[in-house]
Amino acid sequence: MSDEPIYYDQYDRLIDDDPYPIFKRLREEAPLWYNEKYDFWVLSRFEDVRQASLDTDTFSSNYGTVLELMDDDPTNHTSIINEDPPYHNQLRAVVAPFFTPAKISSFEDEVREIVVGYLAPLEGKGEFDFVQDFARWVPMDVVSALLGIPQEDRKMINTWGDQINHRDEGQVELGPVQVEAFSRSNAYFENMLMQRRAHPRDDLASAIATGSCVDEQGERPLTTDEAVAMIQIIGIAGNETASRLLASAAWLLGKYPEQRQKLRDDPKLIPKAVEELLRIDPPSPIQFRRVLADVEMHGTVIPKGSNIGLLTASANRDDRQYEDPDRFDIERTPKRHVAFGYGIHSCLGAWVARLEVRVALEEVLARFPDWQVDEANMQRVRTSTVRGFSHVPVRMMGLMEH
Ligand code: HEM
Repeated sequence: MSDEPIYYDQYDRLIDDDPYPIFKRLREEAPLWYNEKYDFWVLSRFEDVRQASLDTDTFSSNYGTVLELMDDDPTNHTSIINEDPPYHNQLRAVVAPFFTPAKISSFEDEVREIVVGYLAPLEGKGEFDFVQDFARWVPMDVVSALLGIPQEDRKMINTWGDQINHRDEGQVELGPVQVEAFSRSNAYFENMLMQRRAHPRDDLASAIATGSCVDEQGERPLTTDEAVAMIQIIGIAGNETASRLLASAAWLLGKYPEQRQKLRDDPKLIPKAVEELLRIDPPSPIQFRRVLADVEMHGTVIPKGSNIGLLTASANRDDRQYEDPDRFDIERTPKRHVAFGYGIHSCLGAWVARLEVRVALEEVLARFPDWQVDEANMQRVRTSTVRGFSHVPVRMMGLMEH
């Protein structure tokens, strides 16, 4: 126990560097905690986060899920991530068939080709930046292959995604850079939609463009706003997050060589390692909700209308759920984690992320037996939603003898 008052917010860079000690104090001392500065509540224990994620009648996504983007008009939000049932389920049903494990695994060869394409120029290099030279680009290419985004546009879209998420030191609200990047990406995806409506192809953007949704009145085509929002969230949501997961993998497997060796000895452990990476350092640590009715938790009433953060990254380290939760152990018996959220909003692209990170690790480990991370020169992205590294300089060892 510390005498220091507990404090957490997702904008504070010092906290962002290592929030886990604060998460532990929250879970132990204040499992429901109120942030006066930014006027929000947080839940930090596994079971609370899980229950709140399931109770969409009380904890709504319809007013936004990022604190600084929340407002009082539910109709301002068009993405599935910001909808409640039944509308959410109607929209999700349009794309869900494209994201099943079976459907996604049929992309494995394509994903491997993408991964190998980025690794080939790095082979034989003693040093490179694992994120800037590799991890940054793979998820963008994978999602682009699914959606049908042409090669020449991918870098631009990836940059918009970075700009939308980035916050300068002390910046909370969107600035001109974010607004501009958002409106450019919106215009791009709207144009893509119009092209696919006119000339459908064999890609997910065409399936969305020509797709229909079943609501209370029956089947109807998606509106332009719905379809653009769908393509946009799929095109952008998975890039930052999956790149950060790969960045963490490079860092943690560099830091724990014995764990990395286990994966080299038995690559079948890689899927387990991916779950452990998601658990121990999830790229999307907090999801916000609007409280729709007074609700009592831990002896305190959270008033109707409050904003509340579900601290999934803290839930994943809850010792009520995991033994020795701060230990990175790729052989941990798999247990559910909430790195992909939980309940109806749980990540649509989870199997895409699992596939690309598994294949990336298989190919990296097959080429690079041993590496060290230059921790002093690692850098983090600074956003209020995604947490992880933008730069992970690595030095590859033992290349000659393998
Ligand atoms: C490691 C990578 C990823 C992580 C950690 C991650 C994390 C999450 C989380 C925590 C949520 C739930 C948000 C909430 O409850 O408010 C979510 C939702 C979502 N994710 Fe992911 N994600 C990843 C990759 C992807 C990919 C690759 C895609 C697309 C191909 C994607 C598309 C989506 C979409 C569309 C939703 C909204 C689902 C809904 O509201 O029904 N994500 N993701």
